[in-house]
Amino acid sequence: MNGLPKQMPADGMNAYAYFLTVTQPTIDDLKGMMFLEASGQGLYDGLAAMTDKQEAREILCRNGREERAHAHRLRRAIKILSGETVDVPAPEENPYHGALGFDALTAGVLEALVGAEFDGEALYNTWADGVGNDAAARLLRQNGKEERRHGVRVRKVMSLLGG
Ligand SMILES: [Fe+2]
Ligand SMILES: [Fe+2]
Repeated sequence: MNGLPKQMPADGMNAYAYFLTVTQPTIDDLKGMMFLEASGQGLYDGLAAMTDKQEAREILCRNGREERAHAHRLRRAIKILSGETVDVPAPEENPYHGALGFDALTAGVLEALVGAEFDGEALYNTWADGVGNDAAARLLRQNGKEERRHGVRVRKVMSLLGG
């Protein structure tokens, strides 16, 4: 069974708002976050397609690839904590695909994205503290470290685009 847990919010923005209230993630929370992370690649690829500035495109696509890698770390954390094997969803089986709303290369959207990335670092550190397993905590902290880097890279994109 590889679906989004039934009690998860139906769209990505509300899911993220919910995750920010969680301090001790359940397996379902980790599964929900895996879906949200997997949707991040489409989000960044979509932004990359909106500019023909090569360096900006490369930075955005790199963030996107790492969001998918975050989903894979969550898959591993779920396995460690529960023994359950889950798959990272493809875009067509992911209700959160295309649902995060960061869909324009404007300063306002990019600044909000920077904020979401930095919040992501803090959230992963909170979850690492609350998850009660060292190996899973390490995976979550690595995701968090990379979220900060994503935020810094999006700032770089803003400067490349003259914003
Ligand atoms: Fe991520
Ligand atoms: Fe990120």
